[in-house]
Amino acid sequence: MRALDPDGVLGEPRERGATVGRYEIERVVGESATGVVYEARDAELKRTVALKVMARTSPELAERFSRDAQAMARLDHHNLVSVFDVGAVGGEAYVAMELVRGRTLRQWMATPHARPEVLGVFLQACAGLAAAHDAGLVHGNFKPEDVLVGDDGVVRVGDVGLASPDMLAGPRADQYCFAAVLYEAVTGAPPSHNSIDPAAVRPRRLARALARGLAPDPDQRFADMRAFGGELHAVLTAPADRFVRLGRASLLGFAALVIVVVRVACC
Ligand SMILES: Nc1ncnc2c1ncn2[C@@H]1O[C@H](COP(=O)(O)OP(=O)(O)OP(=O)(O)O)[C@@H](O)[C@H]1O
Ligand SMILES: [Mg+2]
Repeated sequence: MRALDPDGVLGEPRERGATVGRYEIERVVGESATGVVYEARDAELKRTVALKVMARTSPELAERFSRDAQAMARLDHHNLVSVFDVGAVGGEAYVAMELVRGRTLRQWMATPHARPEVLGVFLQACAGLAAAHDAGLVHGNFKPEDVLVGDDGVVRVGDVGLASPDMLAGPRADQYCFAAVLYEAVTGAPPSHNSIDPAAVRPRRLARALARGLAPDPDQRFADMRAFGGELHAVLTAPADRFVRLGRASLLGFAALVIVVVRVACC
């Protein structure tokens, strides 16, 4: 949502030097249907922040936004974008947060990555979501645009609790969205019709974990993100399918050889 002009009409994003509360705009770093994210300078604390400015569509939404942002500000986890401050100016609400130098998970996914690297990134996002859930917060609309892969290699989940209120929102709905994004990262396409193509996913253990995270019945999903993460970690550290198959094949070959040798020796 762009800045509102005095007549309440949506205008262009703010120019460099404009102020929002105590924040001085430096440049636009991104925008979406709901808000504009700026790099801004906190004049009081003399630090650079990411400032997300959104229209306050209803008092209830503003109330919830403020409450969740306060809860986020109390959360301190390296896989969550730190929230510093929230406020309102005119018809708009803003949230000042840690400015992450890097790219979104959507951008990161645009180039191919080896399976262990993909799992490593998603395990970090999983830890961030788990920490938010532990604090009683849900993301509400987990998507690759809300995950920032820092140039420092740290993955941070942002916008926790900033999505529109949704009757279905909850930790297991977050889990479903997380699984859908991981499925897309692994196969190159989002899951269709609430079903996944197991043939498209290897190893099989990962296919099973994804099927569970994407189960239409929330009760069939993992108990929580930590359990999901545990399974992904097991996939990451388990030998790959082909090595297991190779191992089995060589074991069978060895057994056959022993039988032949024993038979020859006995004759
Ligand atoms: N803390 C941050 N640090 C650096 N860049 C950020 C930060 N938060 C957001 N961005 C950038 O701003 C862009 C827009 O973010 P924004 O949250 O407004 O949009 P979105 O995630 O696409 O949609 P939504 O409004 O549904 O969350 C992001 O894609 C990202 O590139
Ligand atoms: Mg976002």
